[in-house]
Amino acid sequence: MPRLIIEGGHPLRGETEALGAKNAVLPIMAAAILCSGDVLLERVPDISDVRVMAGILTELGVEVEFLGGGRLRLNADRLANTRAPYELVRRMNASFDVAGPLLARFGECEVALPGGCNLGQRRVNLHLDAFRALGAEVHREHGMVKAQATRLRGTSIYFPKVSVGATKNATMAASLAEGETVLENAACEPEIVDLARFLQACGARVEGAGTPRIRVEGVRELRGASHAVTSDRIVTGTILCMTALSGGEVTVRNSPPEHLEAVLGELRKAGQEVRVQGNDVTLSARRPVRSLEVTTAPFPGFPTDLHPPLVALLVLGDGVSMLHETIFDGRFMYVGELVRLGANIRVSDHTAVINGVRFLAGAPVEASDIRAGGALIAAALAAEGETSIGGLEFIDRGYENVHTRLASLGARIRRVE
Ligand code: EPU
Repeated sequence: MPRLIIEGGHPLRGETEALGAKNAVLPIMAAAILCSGDVLLERVPDISDVRVMAGILTELGVEVEFLGGGRLRLNADRLANTRAPYELVRRMNASFDVAGPLLARFGECEVALPGGCNLGQRRVNLHLDAFRALGAEVHREHGMVKAQATRLRGTSIYFPKVSVGATKNATMAASLAEGETVLENAACEPEIVDLARFLQACGARVEGAGTPRIRVEGVRELRGASHAVTSDRIVTGTILCMTALSGGEVTVRNSPPEHLEAVLGELRKAGQEVRVQGNDVTLSARRPVRSLEVTTAPFPGFPTDLHPPLVALLVLGDGVSMLHETIFDGRFMYVGELVRLGANIRVSDHTAVINGVRFLAGAPVEASDIRAGGALIAAALAAEGETSIGGLEFIDRGYENVHTRLASLGARIRRVE
């Protein structure tokens, strides 16, 4: 199995360009199902989750063509079936994004339940409640969700819990429904805003994305359009944490700082120097790393996906830090691996208590999910000696060519197959 080999102690320095966001491009690819004609996407990251979504769309009969240079063409005019089987869906929770578009455009869908992953149970009850509210008949059978509706009808939907996935699916489904849909307590993530911008470019009438109240006036049809995917704030945040751990100075270009307010605020509180110029964000590492107390929350709160890389930084804090996780029960699997590198962390209930240590020492470790991988790479950059990281099948899901990018910033990192 491939591994990353990192020799710690070499500060990251230089500039790097933000990439297109995984969590924006995946629902936008699924939304191509809603459209007649070609959809052309730019800034599509070269990550395995994009290839999994491409595989699912191909299975459904969507034409998928990678044009090079981060460009992708999709065309759903000859969709062949509305069934997304378990073998494909189990590889990625975001596969469920195809459910709303299939139901809205073709009146039916049969999509495997995502089940669980290393982050915990991945429920879809809020997605299904939204489909039912829009007038669909929804059943669960043999691990599949089957939904049907002649035409969805606009309605008012209140989400009892903020869900990025349910907000995306409901917005996509409502865009072809008859009449107006109002979503209350919707997720406000920048990736929802990007999805709404894409839908608008295709002719949808969506207002209020980025606020807890989204209004969708259904239209009869959507036509494919061109769209450049927004920047990946989680990759940017991970690089900033890596820079802080490595003791260096890096500028991430083209990464809107308003997507990262909570993160930049916590990094500053941790004593790191953060400068913003337009859409360029620079972090200069400073010592000591100050200890913090942080609670994850839906946007604009501190993102759960940056919890592991931030904890990797707090491992070198000057006192006791606390990280309260409120989104995913299973998010702490990386902690045992950081402890192998010399960290002093205890997890109790949903809180990691981190006692700062003076140094880390390289060791073999395994990534258990995408962001656990980001945290382990960050810690390895600070660790004395060599760290070998496995579980690259997770890291490759969300971080494009991470070894070449970090090597270009001065890291001693190689990938062995
Ligand atoms: N939830 C329910 N019922 C539902 C849907 C969600 O109880 O019907 C619960 C979940 O179990 C979880 C919480 O609500 O505890 C939040 O789930 P949400 O739907 O917001 O998350 P998601 O759409 O499944 C996306 C990102 C995740 C990111 C979360 C939270 C994508 C493809 N994935 O997941 O990204 O952590 O929002 O911000 O957009 C990652 O990129 O590494 C990643 C895991």
